[in-house]
Amino acid sequence: MSLKGKVAVVTGGNSGIGAAIVLELAKQGANIVIDYIAHREATDALQKKILALGDRAIGVNADVSQVESIQLLIDAAVREFGAVDIMVNNAGIETRTSVLDTTEKQYEKVMEVNLKSAFFGTQIAAKQMIRQGKGGRIINITSVHEDWPMPGNTAYCLSKGGIRMLTRTSALELAQHGILVTGLGPGAVATPINLSTMKDQTLMQKLDAAIPLGRMARPEEIASVVAFLAGDGASYMTGTTVFVDGGMMHQSPGL
Ligand SMILES: NC(=O)c1ccc[n+]([C@@H]2O[C@H](COP(=O)([O-])OP(=O)(O)OC[C@H]3O[C@@H](n4cnc5c(N)ncnc54)[C@H](O)[C@@H]3O)[C@@H](O)[C@H]2O)c1
Repeated sequence: MSLKGKVAVVTGGNSGIGAAIVLELAKQGANIVIDYIAHREATDALQKKILALGDRAIGVNADVSQVESIQLLIDAAVREFGAVDIMVNNAGIETRTSVLDTTEKQYEKVMEVNLKSAFFGTQIAAKQMIRQGKGGRIINITSVHEDWPMPGNTAYCLSKGGIRMLTRTSALELAQHGILVTGLGPGAVATPINLSTMKDQTLMQKLDAAIPLGRMARPEEIASVVAFLAGDGASYMTGTTVFVDGGMMHQSPGL
């Protein structure tokens, strides 16, 4: 168990990729703060699984688009477990709207939940890690769309492109403190964010055909790489994004 005794905070941690990350980090021995905004019952169920693994977890209801809520999340981790060693900025939403039809409200919401939360999640977690004096890991869940345009989802791509530069720039600033910042860019993953696509068989066939490995990822296939980035094996990685996309980015988009 490579993360024995570490404390991890995972935003948007009770569904999809976040829930898989929570479970994988716990399997590696970490104690976990599960951030969530809805479905308390899903958080409770995760907590039970973690207890059964012999680790500890708390759920914190915090909307990470608000800076004060992120501070509450970090404070809860310190109060409950005494530290924050791993911060996973995972919460994210999309509007599936083009540059022509995105409203100001939609734009602001995507940027607040995806980019602002990662920025202040990085800032507040890093300040805590600096106080602790033992370095730390910050892992930003971005997307192939931090680099790869997706027409019809412009604000989302913009937010993920912003996280790309947040990862690179904050990594340079925080290296002196032993805090390593990496991005993980999933391709298409079978989670609630993709429900409408998953319900459309024609679209699914097109999507699978555009992925060299021929299928969407399971959330666990993303979580295992997050655990690697959080552990000793990634001690010389910072300021970069790892893409976990079944080869998707190198395929002609054509969707
Ligand atoms: N599923 C994919 O294909 C895919 C691909 C690339 C990147 N991603 C990224 O992975 C991350 C997780 O997405 P997912 O696929 O698991 O979808 P998901 O919808 O299951 O998870 C998103 C989570 O973010 C939470 N969230 C939304 N707004 C929040 C807020 N204001 N405060 C706190 N939490 C909030 C949701 O409650 C949910 O738990 C997102 O950042 C998403 O952009 C997903």
